[in-house]
Parts: sequence; C-alpha cells; structure tokens
Amino acid sequence: MKAVLLGATRGMGRALARRMAEQGASLFLLGRDPLELERSAKDLSLRGASGDVGWARCDLLAPGGFEPALARADEVLGGFDTAVVTAGLFATQDALEADPKLCAELLHADFTCTVLFCEAARRRLLARGGGTLCVFSSVAGERGRKPVILYGAAKAGLSHYLEGLDHKFHADGLVTVTVKPGFVRTAMTEGLEPPPFAGEPDEVAAAVLRAIEKGRPVVYAPAIWAWVMLAIRLLPRSALRRIGF
Ligand SMILES: NC(=O)c1ccc[n+]([C@@H]2O[C@H](COP(=O)([O-])OP(=O)(O)OC[C@H]3O[C@@H](n4cnc5c(N)ncnc54)[C@H](OP(=O)(O)O)[C@@H]3O)[C@@H](O)[C@H]2O)c1
Repeated sequence: MKAVLLGATRGMGRALARRMAEQGASLFLLGRDPLELERSAKDLSLRGASGDVGWARCDLLAPGGFEPALARADEVLGGFDTAVVTAGLFATQDALEADPKLCAELLHADFTCTVLFCEAARRRLLARGGGTLCVFSSVAGERGRKPVILYGAAKAGLSHYLEGLDHKFHADGLVTVTVKPGFVRTAMTEGLEPPPFAGEPDEVAAAVLRAIEKGRPVVYAPAIWAWVMLAIRLLPRSALRRIGF
C-alpha cells in the first residue's frame, strides 16, 4: 500500500497510520504542524513503514495547497494508491451557536474543504486506473440531532458526497470507504461525557484497515454503532422528538 494521509498526527488518523506502518506500507503525511509531522514520520518509520516516511504541509482550511501537497506525495511515493482523510474539526452546538466565525470555519473545514481535497485526490487516483479514498465522516451525519445540528449537517453532506462518488466512479476503479465513527476517545472529544459504547482509536483503526482491504463502502466503528444507527434511522421523527433526540 502507498498511502497519503491528511490528519494523521493525532487520534484515529495516527492509530490508522501506525497499523499501516506495521504492515510495511509506504506512507506520506499531510498536516499543518511541521514539528508534529516530523515526529509522526519518525514514529511511523520506527514502526515498520517502508522507506522514509515523507511529509508536506497541508492545511485543510487552505484548499489552494491541496494540489501541490498531493503532487509531492505522488512524487515521493511514486503514485499513491490510497488517500485517507481524518482531519476535521469539532465544536459543541452551544459553542457554534455562540460564535458564527467558528461555525463558518467548521462548516468550511468539515464539508467544503474536505470535499475539495477528496476531489483533488480522486482525480489523481482515477487518472491511473483507480485506488482507495477513505474519509472519516460521522454517525452524527445520519439524523438531525439537537446536540450536533451544525457538525452533523456538515458530516451528512460529506457522507452524501462520498456515496455519490461511489456510485459514479466505482466501475472506474475508485473504492470509496466512508468511515462513520461513534464516540471515540481522542483529543477531539476530551472533556465530553462518554456515552455508552465509547470506543478507542486503535479499535477504530483496525476496523478501518479491514474495510480498506476488503473495499467496504461504509464502516461503522466501533461496530456496535451499525446496529445503533440502524435503529435510529428507522425511528420516526415523532419518536425521536419524544426521547429528546
Ligand atoms: N472522536 C470522535 O468521537 C469522532 C466521532 C465521529 C467522527 N469523528 C471524525 O473522525 C475524524 C478524526 O477525529 P479524531 O477524533 O481522531 O480527531 P483528533 O484527535 O482531533 O485529530 C484530528 C487530526 O486532524 C488534524 N487537523 C485538524 N484541523 C486541521 C487542519 N485545518 N489542517 C490539517 N489538519 C488538521 C489534526 O492535526 P493538528 O494536530 O494540526 O490539529 C489531527 O491530526 C474527524 O473527521 C472527526 O470529525 C470523530
């Protein structure tokens, strides 16, 4: 595997990159903090990644940098076959309602910029006959919910886009893996009360790597969330209103 990863310096992205390294994959990291990128690249090399792990600066909020960053990844890896996007922003509904600037930034990062990055990556993959695009969305995008209206709306749009990509380009060799984590203990959820079924980054990483290997279009992680969300999707709005959803 020759993978480029955006947002693998922490959390689930780091756990996934470590598992890929342990399998001997060639890796190239994208992110916004050079010190963290350098440290992560060294860590992944020590864990068994093939060759030196390269990196380049790429800010999810600056789409003008996507093409040069992916071009560098292509150059160093000799053409990546897998692109992974774990970078994303989260803020509580209260914080987003109180701060329109933060709200605009989160919607821009989690929907518009993520989609633009995916467009740049999938064009490169399709130009050489296909590959895998693995993107972290969220169970928060499955139904509208009071505590995650804005974050959930961005993730819903992202999941919808990825499903469309799958329909349009699967026959051309593009494998789209949409990851829908439930609550996972990372820096992103620090300070929040963990709900039942809260997961750890490494168990999500294991499930995602299996999904990439098998080319599964959607993966809920931890797996229990597939059943939880099946029930949530089937409940009528009146029932959700009654339980204060
Ligand atoms: N944790 C959960 O419960 C949960 C649940 C559902 C979905 N998700 C989604 O899963 C993904 C990963 O979440 P996580 O919990 O692993 O997050 P995390 O621990 O906060 O890690 C996020 C990663 O994204 C990078 N990033 C953030 N903003 C960036 C930007 N503007 N440009 C480039 N990189 C940026 C961070 O790098 P820096 O070090 O530079 O900040 C970090 O490497 C996200 O898309 C999140 O929305 C998480």
